[in-house]
Amino acid sequence: MKSILALVALASAVLAQRVSVGFPAPGQNIPAGSSINVQVQEGAAQSPSTEIGIAITLQHCQQNPCEDVSQDLGTVFYAGSFQPQRFNPPAASGAPYQNFTVNIPQGFQKGPAVLSVPHSNLIGAGPSLSTEIATVSVNIV
Ligand SMILES: *[C@@H]1O[C@H](CO)[C@@H](O)[C@H](O)[C@H]1NC(C)=O
Repeated sequence: MKSILALVALASAVLAQRVSVGFPAPGQNIPAGSSINVQVQEGAAQSPSTEIGIAITLQHCQQNPCEDVSQDLGTVFYAGSFQPQRFNPPAASGAPYQNFTVNIPQGFQKGPAVLSVPHSNLIGAGPSLSTEIATVSVNIV
């Protein structure tokens, strides 16, 4: 049952306008107590899309590689509007993006962690609701 749901989620994500995390980089060491830039990039539009918003969350992993944290996203640093723009110079990918400053608490548990960006938008002429979670694995040091 779980794999069927995962397949459906994957299929709808492929059709949707996706976001990706430009920064931090996969595997990046992030000192607890530091302030980091989280860059969220908008994927290429296949159909008209209206943004609802995103969240930025961070969860410590119990395992390495990390378990699935999609039902247990951890500390919420941001939840609100997403307004990606084209800047000059552009992101490495050329995609519109928005930067968010996130302060990692001094007491955040060290070790592997997953930074998640849940994203929700309206796509197509209907429109239909699209939700997805972009993730990047980092290392809190
Ligand atoms: C967004 O963050 C990246 C990486 O830190 C930086 O290179 C870029 O200049 C920032 N863009 C804006 C518009 O502040």
